Amino acid sequence: MRVQNKLKISMAVAAAASLMTVTGCSANQPAGSSTGGSGTDKLEITSWWTSGSEADALNVLIDGVKKTSPGLSVDNAAVSGGGGANARQALAARLQAGSPPDSWQLHPAGQLKSYVDGGQVADLTDLWTQNDWASKLPKDVAEAQQVNGKYYTVPIGVHRGNVLWTNPAVLSKANVKIDPASGVDGLITALKQVQASGTTPVCLGDKDIFASAELLESIIMSRTGAENYKKLFTNEYSFDAPEMKQALEDYKTILSLSNKDHSAITWDEAVKKMANGSCAVSLMGDWAYGELLNAKKTPGKDFAWVTFPGKEDIFDYVGDGFSIPANNIPHADAAKAWLTTLMDPKIQTEFAAKKGSIPAVTNADISTLSQYQQEAAKSFAKASVVSSLAHGQVTTAEFAQTYADAVSTFNGSGNIDAFMASMTQAQKTQLK
Ligand code: GAL
Repeated sequence: MRVQNKLKISMAVAAAASLMTVTGCSANQPAGSSTGGSGTDKLEITSWWTSGSEADALNVLIDGVKKTSPGLSVDNAAVSGGGGANARQALAARLQAGSPPDSWQLHPAGQLKSYVDGGQVADLTDLWTQNDWASKLPKDVAEAQQVNGKYYTVPIGVHRGNVLWTNPAVLSKANVKIDPASGVDGLITALKQVQASGTTPVCLGDKDIFASAELLESIIMSRTGAENYKKLFTNEYSFDAPEMKQALEDYKTILSLSNKDHSAITWDEAVKKMANGSCAVSLMGDWAYGELLNAKKTPGKDFAWVTFPGKEDIFDYVGDGFSIPANNIPHADAAKAWLTTLMDPKIQTEFAAKKGSIPAVTNADISTLSQYQQEAAKSFAKASVVSSLAHGQVTTAEFAQTYADAVSTFNGSGNIDAFMASMTQAQKTQLK
């Protein structure tokens, strides 16, 4: 049985191996037993947190669980690739082979639902009830951790996806100010002025496609507004709408104003290029804030930020959290200690300080966090909050994949009609 398992696992892992880099991976180890183990001495976790800031923030969590469980050995089996496509592919192979890690990173709501529908994640409702976690979270955040009224995941932080990071010196050289209220038209005018000053306007790093998928989604929500954006996923507003066409045209223009090597560089390389003065702006979720601090850049001096320009204040919510497997968990007690550590308010603050996110729990002290994060926390409480499509939160992981593929195709072809036709079709068939 064990040998067979091992064989299946290594075949499945080999299938995904060409796409990924596994660090400290124990993917070839067989699972403890078919019913799962209760061990407390080891814990294996997977995530896609491998950039400088991501790895540091993850270490806060690992150190935290080690403190509560002395003697615990933690295997950090992170798989590189921003946005997590590689990590999820590697995880899928392990789940299929019956050899899951003890816990894995995922987004709540849509992506979580796909794991629940697949019977892959454990029901954590009892743990939630025992700890009264729901009372320590904003209602929307607590709801995002549920599927059909049951809890299946634990939130570690809240990121904002639609932030435009800016280089103050480059903007001032071009005599440009970016006003978030000037909308996408105002942004494009400003970017063209930067181009006229002789600098590349936009830094983009979409080696991992989520980066351009997130740029397009920011443009989409700015053009449609929060309410219509949400309706795209309940089939009450069409991917064929005139605002969608406009958003695609804007996106095409912004791509043409970006660094030519965008598909060869990663999200973290792109934001650092922006802070180094290679361009004026870079759209990225606020994990960029953590990464820029990690690269010793000074907020307000080396870089600044505005919400992606649009007609209203929208907060594009990208949640991070961890779940545990429904079957074959190797170290159930250690996994429970891990989930409990994640909900510790002090750990959430310490994690946020490195990651650029805000804590998910409302009993965390955010007064020590940066000005940027204080602003993000205020905005999360009062802006129109929507969930990210590029990160598979607003709808299923499958539809998010269709979108990512359509963005990839569009980046090559620039064919607006084809993008709209394929997404309209997918909307009709996949979001019934
Ligand atoms: C997102 C995740 C962030 C950040 C980013 C880039 O999916 O929510 O925490 O890690 O990917 O890798």
